[in-house]
Amino acid sequence: MRDRAAAAERTRRKPAIRDKYTLFAPFYDLLSGEYPVYHAGRVLGIDALAPTAGQQVLDIGCGTGLNFPLLQKRIGASGTIVGIDRSAGMLRQARRRARARGWENVILLQADMVLLDPGSIAARIQAGRGAAVSDAALATYSLSLMADREQAWTNMTGLLSADARVGVVDMQDPVGWARWLTPLARLACALGGSDITAAPWQAVEERCVDVLRASARGGHLQIRAGKMMHAG
Ligand SMILES: C[S@@+](CC[C@H](N)C(=O)[O-])C[C@H]1O[C@@H](n2cnc3c(N)ncnc32)[C@H](O)[C@@H]1O
Repeated sequence: MRDRAAAAERTRRKPAIRDKYTLFAPFYDLLSGEYPVYHAGRVLGIDALAPTAGQQVLDIGCGTGLNFPLLQKRIGASGTIVGIDRSAGMLRQARRRARARGWENVILLQADMVLLDPGSIAARIQAGRGAAVSDAALATYSLSLMADREQAWTNMTGLLSADARVGVVDMQDPVGWARWLTPLARLACALGGSDITAAPWQAVEERCVDVLRASARGGHLQIRAGKMMHAG
């Protein structure tokens, strides 16, 4: 309990990262290493999540919306993307992307995944003409930034249907032949504020069934997706 309170306090005291993303937002797509590194993870993650036409998908820590084009191909105009991010600057870029592409099925909400109240977020989603519960959730390169991943996971699942699918894509040290790239991978994570040792995909391993696994870029990118295990 004390650990949870300490983590919440750390989250409140993390303006440096929040500011970093807001400052960096206009250049994020260009400088984040999307091609040649991180795009591969989102492609594999969305393949493994496999959302279908008409579904509502939560994009946790959606950033500038780099997942949106791939998600739209799957869910179509009858589906909905709910992007949640705590950075106003990143959401501004996501909103621009949606407007430029003419997507009317994107709901963007500014909230901290660790601190939010699922009930009030569900009400905000409904106010944006979405459904109170979503069919799937995807977190690409975002959970490893969150100080209290357990609470973020609980809040996320509070917004999902009982049989929802969850996909997590995140980073670790490269392995095997790619180990020589470790300093570069660590530098990228440190610059972005990610904890490269966090392994947030373990939650999918532990709490989902029918788990699909993939990795890319010498093991630096880890991908997991599965169906939520029913409680009880
Ligand atoms: C490395 S970026 C990844 C963005 C996007 N998911 C992608 O794949 O390009 C991490 C994002 O997570 C967001 N983020 C970090 N901690 C968060 C939190 N506690 N709640 C909501 N968003 C958070 C940041 O604002 C940032 O936009």
